[in-house]
Amino acid sequence: MIGVSAAIPEIELDAHCHHFDVESIRKDFPILSRKIYGHPLVYLDNAASAHKPQCVIDAITKAYTEYYSNIHRGVHLLSQLSTQEHDLARSEIQKFLGARHSYEIIFVRNATEGINLVASSYGRSHFKPGDEILITHMEHHANIVPWQMVCEQTGAVLRVAPVNDDGELKMDEFEKLLTDRTRFVSVVHLSNALGTINPIKEIIQLAHARNIPVLVDGAQSVPHMKVDVQELDCDFFVFSGHKLYGPSGIGVLYGKEEMLDAMPPYQGGGDMIRSVTFGRTLYNSLPYKFEAGTPDIVGPIGLAAAIEYVQKLCLEKIARYEQKLYAYATKALSEIPELRLIGTAKKRAGVLTFVLKNIHPHDIGTIMDREGIAIRTGHHCAQPIMDRFGVPATARASLAFYNTQEEIDRLVQGIHKVIEVFQ
Ligand SMILES: Cc1ncc(COP(=O)(O)O)c(C=O)c1O
Repeated sequence: MIGVSAAIPEIELDAHCHHFDVESIRKDFPILSRKIYGHPLVYLDNAASAHKPQCVIDAITKAYTEYYSNIHRGVHLLSQLSTQEHDLARSEIQKFLGARHSYEIIFVRNATEGINLVASSYGRSHFKPGDEILITHMEHHANIVPWQMVCEQTGAVLRVAPVNDDGELKMDEFEKLLTDRTRFVSVVHLSNALGTINPIKEIIQLAHARNIPVLVDGAQSVPHMKVDVQELDCDFFVFSGHKLYGPSGIGVLYGKEEMLDAMPPYQGGGDMIRSVTFGRTLYNSLPYKFEAGTPDIVGPIGLAAAIEYVQKLCLEKIARYEQKLYAYATKALSEIPELRLIGTAKKRAGVLTFVLKNIHPHDIGTIMDREGIAIRTGHHCAQPIMDRFGVPATARASLAFYNTQEEIDRLVQGIHKVIEVFQ
C-alpha cells in the first residue's frame, strides 16, 4: 500500500541548489517558533494555507513603507515605483511558470477566481446546449461549482471521470468520456483531499488530440513540484499565492495568449479599457483586459518574494525532501491499526488523509490542537470525493518543506492520544 519511496524520482540537482538544512530554514518562518497551549507548534495544515518566510513579510513591509501607491495611473514617482515593482513581479511569475509572455499571467484573488474567470468568460462565450465539460471525481469545489454554474447558464453538461479505490483517476474511463461533444477539460494536478498526482501531461495530450482545451488546477501542485506550463502545454493553469508561502488575496491565472485573446472580459471597470464613451467601450490588451479596478498592488510583490525564496531553496530539493518526509509519515501512519488512509495512489504527495475507527475527525482535530498540532478536519471542500470513499469527513495532515520527522512523530503521538481518550 505504501510504495511511496518507490515513486520518488531520482532528481538531478541543480548545481546552484545548496544544502537543504531544515532547521535553519525553519528560522526563516517566525510563526514556527510560537507555542500553542504550551506546546511547540506542529503546523500540518499547509494544504489549506502555508506560512510566510521573513523575506515575504519584509517585502510587503518595504512596499508599504517605502514606495506604495496606486499603479498604472500616476505620473508621480511613487506610482511609477509601485508600477515597476508590480510589473517585475509579473515577469518573475512568468519565469516561474515557464510562460511565453508576461501578459499571459493574469492576477486574480486566488485559484478559485482564476477558475471562475475561465468558466465564466470562456464558457459563456463558447458553450452551447449539449456541449460537455469534463472534470474528475476528485476536484475541489472550486473546480466543480463554477462549471456547474456555467452549465446552468449555457445548457452545457458536466461529466465526471471516476477514480479507483486508491484514489487514482481511471484513465481508460477518462478517455472514453472524451467525445465529440466535449468542449473543455478541467482537472486538478495534485488532489488536496487524496494527495493523488494526476497524469496531467497525458490528460492534456489526449484532450488536445481532439482539440479540447485544458485547465489545470495547480493550487496544490506549485508548492511541491516544478511546473512548466509550456512543457505541459496546458491552455490554462491556476494557483493561489497563499499556499506557495506568499500573501493571501493574490492568485494567478495563466492562459495561452490565443485563448485569452479569444475571450471576452470577465469584469468591467477601470484599467481594463482602452477608451470609454457612453456609446462604446474598447477593451485594453492583455493582461489588463482581465484586471478590472485597482488590483492587489502589494500581493504580487509578496508572491514574487516567495517565489524567489523557494527557487533559492531549489524546487527539486524541496520535492525530494518532502517525498522522503511523506514516505516516513505514510509508513508511520499505516502502522496504526485503527487508522485508515484515504488516498493510496502510487503517485502522490503532500497530503495524508485519514479516518480513525469510531472517532469523528473533528474530535481528532480538537484533541490534536490541544497538543499544539494543527491539522485540518472536514470535507476539505471536496464533498464528492468524500462520498466516493463513504466518509463524511476526514482528518488531514499536509506537509511543507519546513516540517520535520520529529513533527511527524508528534503527529503519531497525538493520534495515539486521541485513540486513548476514546477507548
Ligand atoms: C486543489 C485545490 N483547488 C483549488 C483550491 C482553491 O484555492 P483558493 O481557496 O486559494 O482559491 C484549493 C484550496 O484548498 C485546492 O486545494
